[in-house]
Amino acid sequence: MYRQPKRNLTTLGEFIIDKQADFPFAKGELSSLLSDIAIAAKIVNREVNKAGLVNILGEAGSENVQGESQKKLDVFANEQFLAALATGGECAGVASEENDEIILFDGASSSGKYIVAIDPLDGSSNIDVNVSVGTIFSIYRRKTKNGPATVDDFLQPGYDQVAAGYVVYGSSTMLVYTTGNGVNGFTLDPSIGEFCLSHPDMRIPSGGNIYSVNQGNFVHFPEGVKRYIKSLQIDDKANKKPYTLRYIGSLVSDFHRNLIKGGIYIYPTTLGSPAGKLRLMYECNPMAMLMEQAGGRATDGYRNILEIEPTDIHQRCPLFVGSTQMVEEAMDYLRQYSDAEMKPQYANGKES
Ligand code: AHG
Repeated sequence: MYRQPKRNLTTLGEFIIDKQADFPFAKGELSSLLSDIAIAAKIVNREVNKAGLVNILGEAGSENVQGESQKKLDVFANEQFLAALATGGECAGVASEENDEIILFDGASSSGKYIVAIDPLDGSSNIDVNVSVGTIFSIYRRKTKNGPATVDDFLQPGYDQVAAGYVVYGSSTMLVYTTGNGVNGFTLDPSIGEFCLSHPDMRIPSGGNIYSVNQGNFVHFPEGVKRYIKSLQIDDKANKKPYTLRYIGSLVSDFHRNLIKGGIYIYPTTLGSPAGKLRLMYECNPMAMLMEQAGGRATDGYRNILEIEPTDIHQRCPLFVGSTQMVEEAMDYLRQYSDAEMKPQYANGKES
């Protein structure tokens, strides 16, 4: 008789199918969508890994919607994710950092149940110097039932996300995602080409001693943020201060480290960017869902990120995300020292 050998490895595909069994009426569309994203991520990973070898570095000669020059890998990553989602049939359209307008798919995909918001290659200014970059994605059930999706299908608050995740193309490549029932991390084993479960049920420590912020902008920060940062730098051994500053300038990498070790990532409003720099729909919302699912917090300094009603697919938002105690302490400083005009300038959800 065949004796099945003990196998300790769970692939992302096996894990997704296993989880789908928890929902007897699920038709497998979300599972397929996640698998499509994972396949595109593997292709992007292959190109990121050889970025220094082939002639793929440098400007692509075009500008994205934010007026930033695009690197070739940004363009490549965008194309790969769009192609994977368009052919999968479950996704009716995509809001991408790289495209001014939403992309709507035709054919069978036009009636797909889901829409995706994505930053295909976040932290792309790090590519040229071999520093980790990432992909961030957010999945919603579309609101309209028939016909092509509309912009309103995308403008849903973060609490309506059905899944969110990121891929970090780092010293090893990981895909971390949630469908609202905890956070799980998978490391790509290049020898078999599979994401394998390596970080089950990820939980962020409630406190930490790492803070991540672009301190070069300090002079432009709200008073509350300045005072909070100063409070982390005092000589106070009993409370493990001064804390450690770690800032990669690649949200996915900074977030990933803080998720594992405990810490806070801050991108506040500044004098020059009164609504912050990061994008609500494909940076802040997915990270906020992941962080809440891992037991941490994500706010704009005053309110929960996931409650914000978006009015524009490229809307900006300040971000305070990480260990609950640290985020709440930063919010206390903001409430105490920052006057009303330093609050993010998007009254009624609209960015000024
Ligand atoms: P980009 O993709 O244009 O490099 O932006 C990266 C984002 C985010 O990943 C990172 O944390 C932040 O912008 C860095 O911004 P600063 O350079 O202003 O610190």
